[in-house]
Amino acid sequence: MFGKHNKIFNIERSTQFVDRVLFLSLPSALVFIMLVALRLITPTLAIISYATIIFFNIVFLFPITFELQQLKKYITTLSRGEDFDEKLMTLSEKEAKEIVDAVNAMHQFWAHKTDVLEAQTMSDTAVLDSLPDPILMIDRAGNILGANLSARNVLGNDITEKNVENLFNSNNFIEAVSKVLKKQSKSENLIFYAPGSSKKEEPQKLYAHIKQLPWLSKGRAVAVISLYDMTKAMKIEKMQSDFVANASHELRTPLSIISGFIETLQTSAKDDEEAREKFLKIMSEQAEYMSALIENLLSLSKIEMSQDQKPDELTDVKKLIQEVAQALSFKAKEREINIKTEIEKDFPKEIIADSRQVKQVIQNLTDNAIKYGLSQSDVTIKAYVAEKIPPSKSFKVAKGKAIAISVNNKGPKITPENLARLTERFYRLQEHKDLNIKGTGLGLSIAKHIILRHKGNLTVNSTSYNGTTFTIYLPIEQN
Ligand SMILES: Nc1ncnc2c1ncn2[C@@H]1O[C@H](COP(=O)(O)OP(=O)(O)OP(=O)(O)O)[C@@H](O)[C@H]1O
Ligand SMILES: [Mg+2]
Repeated sequence: MFGKHNKIFNIERSTQFVDRVLFLSLPSALVFIMLVALRLITPTLAIISYATIIFFNIVFLFPITFELQQLKKYITTLSRGEDFDEKLMTLSEKEAKEIVDAVNAMHQFWAHKTDVLEAQTMSDTAVLDSLPDPILMIDRAGNILGANLSARNVLGNDITEKNVENLFNSNNFIEAVSKVLKKQSKSENLIFYAPGSSKKEEPQKLYAHIKQLPWLSKGRAVAVISLYDMTKAMKIEKMQSDFVANASHELRTPLSIISGFIETLQTSAKDDEEAREKFLKIMSEQAEYMSALIENLLSLSKIEMSQDQKPDELTDVKKLIQEVAQALSFKAKEREINIKTEIEKDFPKEIIADSRQVKQVIQNLTDNAIKYGLSQSDVTIKAYVAEKIPPSKSFKVAKGKAIAISVNNKGPKITPENLARLTERFYRLQEHKDLNIKGTGLGLSIAKHIILRHKGNLTVNSTSYNGTTFTIYLPIEQN
């Protein structure tokens, strides 16, 4: 009935319940055999008495075995990290209840410790992932054990299956890492070139810092490698030095013209009234150009500084368009140009943007349209709502509805090669330089920077029939 291989009353097979019952009943069995042998009791009475003893042993042992089993199940479930509903247990023994309480206390203690440890690990991972530069952890054999988000982005998600030797095709890098792994050096710093993944790609200039981890850290990681991509910084440096070179070149030209005329006025043209008038006019124009150049350069550097700040002003674009049209109407009249404004009926009253900067963009585009447009024609500024901002390959634009402001002027078609370069600093069309139309070549560059800050876009369309249309897209809200 209580065979080892059957499950009776919820008691598992492997229990020693039957063995214990039989073992406890064995002495009484021997006593009954002796009593029957001595004919002091009948065999029937002996069997009945023995069965009664077995029955009492079962009644006595069953609850203990049953509770032990429940405890075992409870503890193994907890040790597997699973939940167990205590209410499912029916414990009557005081000791069994005390064991459950003790196990519970221990379980809670370790659960708390695990929570603290997990939170710590998560915050450590978040800190490492928020670092802009790639960081790798390696073991004694150079296997990559861990990589932060930046490393995974740059070197691929399968980075942790690689060995540092296969990371970059650079002997200097491998040598530096092996020096640290062999404990010949505590840390190594080096600059090396990593060849691009394809032949077309330029080699990357990287700075690596390899450092042994202190012996206190008990994990498998023995060293940390942090990488810094110097290619981008070099490009920025080059751009900055090009800019300074261009800016000084641009300033030098009017300055040399002015000083040339000053010299002429001091010497050969000293008493020439007519020449003096003419030269002074040129000098004043050049001074004006210089001041426009300086103003634009300052404007550009200011915009660059605010590049990462989200615009947060309420801006009435319709009002700005009217103000610009009003301010430039005098200049337009000189070329017999008429400025027309067409603002869509349901154009938003306000958008979130930097008012001064948006005004500057509208002004730069309208000023260009007046300067480079056909005289005795119209310059048309249209403002309307666009479903979305046209995407760009080189920068991110905001999602959602936007406003569009287009500025059109009549005139010859701009060639696609020239169109692509219009927003470059100091770039001007040769025909306009030849016609001696004044300009610094910075207006569109300033406009582009402002639009980038607003996560908008600037498009240009030029045909011989319709002339040139610049369109600014700005998000209605800055999300
Ligand atoms: N509407 C347009 N039609 C034809 N060409 C244009 C137009 N707008 C700009 N360009 C060309 O693009 C060049 C760059 O324009 P940008 O506004 O950056 O500089 P700029 O007008 O020369 O100088 P600034 O705006 O500083 O006075 C201009 O010199 C001109 O050759
Ligand atoms: Mg301009």
